[in-house]
Amino acid sequence: GTDSILRVTPSMLKEHRTRDDAWSSFSGKVYNLTAYLPYHPGGEKELLRVAGRDGTKLFAATHAWVNIDYMLDECLVGFMVSE
Ligand code: HEM
Repeated sequence: GTDSILRVTPSMLKEHRTRDDAWSSFSGKVYNLTAYLPYHPGGEKELLRVAGRDGTKLFAATHAWVNIDYMLDECLVGFMVSE
């Protein structure tokens, strides 16, 4: 939910790179992808490639037309900031 929005640094993001705790950033917005993994039409494995890191480029390369803000609103963790 949007109750506690975090400021996420690159090193914080890197700590959340497992299947059970998978964060990724897309255009500066950080999402917890764990709950969405089983529902991704492209499969869990593809999505886990961006766990713990920025997924903007791979997302744009695969499906720039998908509205991630709308789809993952409930999974928003926060916004990227510098260290
Ligand atoms: C397909 C959502 C991240 C790879 C899809 C589709 C959706 C979706 C809705 C179906 C699109 C369509 O049929 O028009 C998302 C969301 C993401 C995400 C919400 C972010 C959290 C990624 C990433 C990758 C990826 C990072 C690559 C590393 C794919 C591939 C397909 C796909 C390859 C095509 C599957 C197929 O048609 O067989 N995704 N995706 N996705 N996604 Fe993602």
